Amino acid sequence: MTPDAPERRNFYGRIRGKTMRASQKTYLEEDLAPLTLHGLTREENPSRSLITPPFAPKPLWLEVGFGGGEHLVHMAARYLDIGLIGCEPFVNGIAMLLGKMRQANLTNLLLHPGDVRDLLEVLPPACLQKVFLNYPDPWPKSRHHRRRFVTTGYLTALARVMEPGAEFRVATDIADYVRQTLEEVPLAGFTLITQGSTPWDDWLSTRYEQKALREGRPPHYMTFRRT
Ligand SMILES: C[S@@+](CC[C@H](N)C(=O)[O-])C[C@H]1O[C@@H](n2cnc3c(N)ncnc32)[C@H](O)[C@@H]1O
Repeated sequence: MTPDAPERRNFYGRIRGKTMRASQKTYLEEDLAPLTLHGLTREENPSRSLITPPFAPKPLWLEVGFGGGEHLVHMAARYLDIGLIGCEPFVNGIAMLLGKMRQANLTNLLLHPGDVRDLLEVLPPACLQKVFLNYPDPWPKSRHHRRRFVTTGYLTALARVMEPGAEFRVATDIADYVRQTLEEVPLAGFTLITQGSTPWDDWLSTRYEQKALREGRPPHYMTFRRT
């Protein structure tokens, strides 16, 4: 990829879902811009210059694909001395998070309403101390496994921006996703620390996890450390 001809990536997930409530449209119109981390899109930053990480000198954490934002808001409220970035391209999810933010009164959370790859590309090396990947899109068909987050392209980009010793947490309900995570994440420069059916002490169950539990798929939690 050259600065003049930035790579156009395929994004296979959903950007829009069912019609939003009027209140959710208002949240997007009024609240998204001030909470957005700027300088990430190809239009704003065509040369893909590295950005200054927000919240410095606070530690910086990232949640990839925050969905409705329940875990992200919970973490931001619990750890006020940490700066958090949440990435999510699905507009309905962003609107749900913004609704939660209206009540939360938090100043340590910023959003990238788009693909996490656009953020990873412009963060400086080793600037993240913790990363959450909660219930990534499962892509169950074998021919789609290469779209999963736990593949070389995503993981190499993630490893670059994580500090040595930084923690990478992955939760999933899909057995084959566990398999691929345990195979591929160590290859990208991480060491497995723990795995099993017991969540982290500060875990807050997400909408997707609740759905998985209702449908009889048990959660699996894995913790890695950047080497
Ligand atoms: C199965 S949902 C889980 C949502 C939430 N973490 C939860 O547990 O309820 C996966 C989420 O990842 C998001 N996602 C998929 N690809 C992404 C990408 N490249 N960058 C950021 N988010 C992404 C999707 O839009 C979706 O909201």
